[in-house]
Amino acid sequence: MELVTLGGLKLDGADFVRVKPLLLLTYVALEGTRDRRHLAELFWPDAADPLNSLAAALKQLRRYAPGAVESNSARVSSAVGCDATTFLRAVEAGDQERALKLYQGPFLSSIYLPGWSAELEEWVYGTREFLAGRARNALVRSGEQVAANGRFEEAAKYGEAAYTLPGAPELEPEELTRVYTLLTAGDSPHLPRLRKDAQGYGIKFSFSHEAAREQLRRPLGGPSSGTPSQRLPTRGTSFIGRDIELAEIANQLEKPDCSLLTLTGPGGVGKSRLALRVAHDLSERYLDGVYFVPLEALGHASLVPSSIAGILGLSLQGSEDPFIQVTRYVGDKAMLLVLDNYEHLLESVTIVAQLLHVCPNLKLLVTSREHLNLEEEWVMPLEGLAVPTENLPPAEASYHDAVKLFAGRAKRARLSFELTLEELPHAVRICRQVRGLPLGIELAAAWVKMLSCQEIAQEIEHTTDFLTSTRRNVSERHKSIRAVFEGSWRLLTPKEQGLLRKLSVFSGGFKREAATEVAGATIPLL
Ligand SMILES: Nc1ncnc2c1ncn2[C@@H]1O[C@H](COP(=O)(O)OP(=O)(O)OP(=O)(O)O)[C@@H](O)[C@H]1O
Ligand SMILES: [Mg+2]
Repeated sequence: MELVTLGGLKLDGADFVRVKPLLLLTYVALEGTRDRRHLAELFWPDAADPLNSLAAALKQLRRYAPGAVESNSARVSSAVGCDATTFLRAVEAGDQERALKLYQGPFLSSIYLPGWSAELEEWVYGTREFLAGRARNALVRSGEQVAANGRFEEAAKYGEAAYTLPGAPELEPEELTRVYTLLTAGDSPHLPRLRKDAQGYGIKFSFSHEAAREQLRRPLGGPSSGTPSQRLPTRGTSFIGRDIELAEIANQLEKPDCSLLTLTGPGGVGKSRLALRVAHDLSERYLDGVYFVPLEALGHASLVPSSIAGILGLSLQGSEDPFIQVTRYVGDKAMLLVLDNYEHLLESVTIVAQLLHVCPNLKLLVTSREHLNLEEEWVMPLEGLAVPTENLPPAEASYHDAVKLFAGRAKRARLSFELTLEELPHAVRICRQVRGLPLGIELAAAWVKMLSCQEIAQEIEHTTDFLTSTRRNVSERHKSIRAVFEGSWRLLTPKEQGLLRKLSVFSGGFKREAATEVAGATIPLL
């Protein structure tokens, strides 16, 4: 039995077509084991007895698709295969051909369930967008592969398919450039439209047909091949603002006495996003390249050298210490390495110091909720996006980056969304409530699918727990403001946690004198 979800919804190998039980099966097949109560409320929010409705659906599944679903009194799981999972595996393995064969169309494209819960709807849309984004990337890569062999018209067809792929997220400038290169090389009729889209991002393409072909002809190879910016990861949403910070970081990294710059700030403030943008912007500036090393999922700092090696495309040999192999490879190369999300590895920062010590032309840009506390380090604390003051004239308020981000993300959640004069003051209030924190703005904006801006603002006023997401392609750390807070909390020592508990009486921030009075806080602790 296999679930086919790309381009429709059916269970191959079973004679069963009821949509809701199949959707339930899809959900647990993709998301893993789930509580009965969670599923019941997600799928039957308006039923008189949601748990009963769930039991009925499970009974149908057991009867018509025996073995597809397993459940006990508390949980439901499924071991049935799903084309979306196989597709993602093929993408990860770099097998574009197989991935595209599996991608028969948008995730659950044909299903319609009147009266389903908003969370479930968001899950379907989020998953659809995520998978379409991966399919688009596979199309772009396939186009680049055939172009490397001189088959430019075929490459342009891949580019066109990528450009017009239904359900895919907005094109990031970096991916837009890659698609544009493919279309230019193969003289696609879609070029004028793409140029216009690019203008919306403030990008003006000026390279010629020949230059595009020249660039694509360069052979593709190992993991770190491709043009400098192709080596870097991309994100599925547009980047907003931060002009001043971008200039400051570029400036700082130019200085000979600055080899380590750390971007610090609370979770969700945009450190990683900004660092990635810097990496793209500076990708041509360093002779030996700019590399982005995500460390978020790393269990221990001792694994940092092998992560760097992986990103550099350096295959480690034998039992020699990975650190030695990496430093030998980097040597005196002029390189920028972005070490992203270092905060949980702070117990061992000597690796960073040693790396700089032996690699004289290496520059490091680190993102971390806390600074590394190294002698070589320059620290740049990052704050939320610019927020308008209250009662600013609407025209001026809408120019602020926080409001722009809100409007952009709201439009993604609901295409018909417009930031009208009536909605604007409430959107401003939301941005102020989350202090311009991009993650908070994104979580809030996703709700425009169901609520007016005024209602969203009221909900946040009530509790920030309201700011949660059900999107699949959001990391656990960023699923809610609470998750971000708990992540930061875990990084504190028990002493710091105790202090913060006492300080929580100051909900609007605190002055040092008052803190000392109430909590006995010392300056190093603060
Ligand atoms: N300037 C920006 N333009 C558009 N989106 C942004 C911007 N800054 C941040 N975001 C979005 O906000 C969310 C949080 O950003 P990011 O992951 O960079 O936070 P962070 O500070 O690295 O958090 P953490 O400490 O948890 O790693 C992401 O979805 C990111 O895409
Ligand atoms: Mg980060």
